[in-house]
Amino acid sequence: MSTSPTISFIGAGNMASAIIGGMLDSGYKAGSIWVSAPDDAHLQTIRKRFGVSVTTDNRYCAQQAEMVVLAVKPQVMADVCRDIAPVVQNTRPLMVSIAAGLTADTLDGWLGGGLPMVRVMPNTPSLVGKGAAGLFANNEVQEAQKETVESVFKSIGSALWVEDENLLHGVTALSGSGPAYFFLMLEALEDAATDAGIAPGTARELAIQTMAGAAEMAARSEHDPGQLKRNVMSPGGTTEQAINAFEDGGMRDLVSKAYQAAFKRSEEMAKELAGKQ
Ligand SMILES: NC(=O)c1ccc[n+]([C@@H]2O[C@H](COP(=O)([O-])OP(=O)(O)OC[C@H]3O[C@@H](n4cnc5c(N)ncnc54)[C@H](OP(=O)(O)O)[C@@H]3O)[C@@H](O)[C@H]2O)c1
Repeated sequence: MSTSPTISFIGAGNMASAIIGGMLDSGYKAGSIWVSAPDDAHLQTIRKRFGVSVTTDNRYCAQQAEMVVLAVKPQVMADVCRDIAPVVQNTRPLMVSIAAGLTADTLDGWLGGGLPMVRVMPNTPSLVGKGAAGLFANNEVQEAQKETVESVFKSIGSALWVEDENLLHGVTALSGSGPAYFFLMLEALEDAATDAGIAPGTARELAIQTMAGAAEMAARSEHDPGQLKRNVMSPGGTTEQAINAFEDGGMRDLVSKAYQAAFKRSEEMAKELAGKQ
């Protein structure tokens, strides 16, 4: 990472730990990271693991930084934001939220208004450095701030910007929920293979390695996924039979329906969350 502004994390859970781990692996200095959460014993574990500075005082934590990452559950976000508002209105850091469903305007309102705000929709593979995150910046965010936040999330995977905040619902339905779609495919493939007599452990390893290998090929290849699929299908061969079965069974329509259902639920949840706070 080229720049090392001080970054504070409010919340020290799975996501904060994953991001901090990725940042340190890519050369970010532990001395430039602060973390706050209510449980001091848990914070001490974080301090020992990463060498970062910790405090149970969210205001103090926020005050240290040029970038503040809000990494708490959406349900406690309003209280956390209102508590640190007087501090951040004074220091005016870049605010970054990884909470699903809470809009930049809602968060900014709780923080007193007028702050640069980036919303990020990460996903669970971030926990193993293979995340895929969608990012949205409000109008107050400077180009240099976008570069900093992008480099933070690139340290745990891919990070791509969307221009319209509503598209974060589309990101949620794609990469946010997406890992579960592929886990379902793994489950179904494993079941089919074990039904055919392959040992469960063998079926799992072959299925996982096939998924990982296909993903790696798709990422590296100059061909699109359609061409890669056709490359595996020789006329009259086994793959052609399987792909025909998927197509005849309405696989594309089903994927589209599943995507739209997740998109719609993301919109609904955002409304529910906004109404509750
Ligand atoms: N996990 C994912 O894959 C994922 C994906 C996309 C988005 N997100 C979003 O990321 C955010 C964090 O998720 P997570 O999975 O990291 O949750 P988590 O593991 O439950 O972590 C939440 C953290 O917030 C702390 N906390 C609770 N109340 C607080 C307060 N008043 N002030 C400061 N810290 C407080 C908790 O402290 P204690 O441990 O002391 O209770 C905990 O360290 C959520 O908004 C979630 O929607 C997560």
